[in-house]
Amino acid sequence: IFAAVELAPRDPILGLNEAFNADTRPFKVNLGVGVYSDDNGKIPLLAAVKAAEKARVDAMLPRGYQPIEGPAAYDSAVQNLLFGADSALISNGQVVTAQALGGTGALKIGADFLKRLNPESKVYISNPSWENHRALFESAGFEVENYPYYDAATRGVDFAGMKSFLQSLAAGSVIVLHACCHNPTGADLSDAQWAEVVEVCRAQGLVPFLDMAYQGFADGIDADAVAVRLFSASGLQFFVSSSFSKSFSLYGERVGALSIVTASKEETGRVLSQLKRVIRTNYSNPPIHGAAMVAAVLSSPVLRQQWEDELAGMRDRIRAMRTGLVEAIKAQGVEQDFSFVAQQRGMFSYTGLTAAQVEVLKSEFGIYAVSTGRICLAALNSKNLPYVAEAIAKVVKG
Ligand code: LMR
Repeated sequence: IFAAVELAPRDPILGLNEAFNADTRPFKVNLGVGVYSDDNGKIPLLAAVKAAEKARVDAMLPRGYQPIEGPAAYDSAVQNLLFGADSALISNGQVVTAQALGGTGALKIGADFLKRLNPESKVYISNPSWENHRALFESAGFEVENYPYYDAATRGVDFAGMKSFLQSLAAGSVIVLHACCHNPTGADLSDAQWAEVVEVCRAQGLVPFLDMAYQGFADGIDADAVAVRLFSASGLQFFVSSSFSKSFSLYGERVGALSIVTASKEETGRVLSQLKRVIRTNYSNPPIHGAAMVAAVLSSPVLRQQWEDELAGMRDRIRAMRTGLVEAIKAQGVEQDFSFVAQQRGMFSYTGLTAAQVEVLKSEFGIYAVSTGRICLAALNSKNLPYVAEAIAKVVKG
């Protein structure tokens, strides 16, 4: 049966974890995958989550099946975070939300639903984009192309190029947008640019698909939702995939959601009925535990405040690592300007390191990064930062 099966390459991001785990060098550092660790290099279990988990474990609840789209309390908590608790879309019943297996699962059920809806559409992702976007939409059967996004010269967004490209697209094209903390570049659109993107989507009849995996990691929960809020105010229909992997440090629980904004409550009913068919044929209905903790935290004023404080702590620590890295690289006598690292947003820095330099970081220094030069700042801490800065400086100086 398997004689003709070819060996597939390792996943460009998660494959790095496999290689890192197999590395026996004690000083190794994993700057590959987008995971936050604290100053001791440990993935935190947030205190708010711990409290919710303890209460849940103590309650010893039975484990029946969940609704196909997840429990209403969870779905409603997701909607409030994304659209704002006072959103007219929510009160009008214009939002379909389904619990999903992380942000990736949300993208996948959204992609499968879209494929049934518009089988001939093409999907456009930013150049560059998260490594899994292309593979994910292709595996749903779409042809995937890039739209211009990152400008390496300015380390910012080539907005003119992006906008004119979007203006050339056929109606019904699906455009995948990073709502905040662009992965991998850390270069986000300004609020004014988002407003222009909304108008282009309207004028061209595009299908916006916002991917929101890092809400709270740039400026704050509401500030980071500006793209979602602008699309909400536009009257357009659109998709949002969201994730609690990072914001709740619940990576392995796979807690995310797909939300779809419709034109009316009646449309919501029809869209939900189809989305449920997609979910049922993928994994039937979602798991209980992670989503129950998120819902418990978000529905308790005390735990929610605790979570917001912890999220702000993660955000601030990443910022400190950004400035710390810039200073430490400079202190190594590197002439090349790395100050852009402090301006980028979210967990990542698109360092400009070449694939060859990344390879040297791995082979000589045991420092793992994505071959595109993306590093995860959230994995730096006060102990490994000097070592990483020294290694980058050596690699850059050649
Ligand atoms: C990343 O980009 O590293 C994260 O989103 C984790 C993943 O699933 O790739």
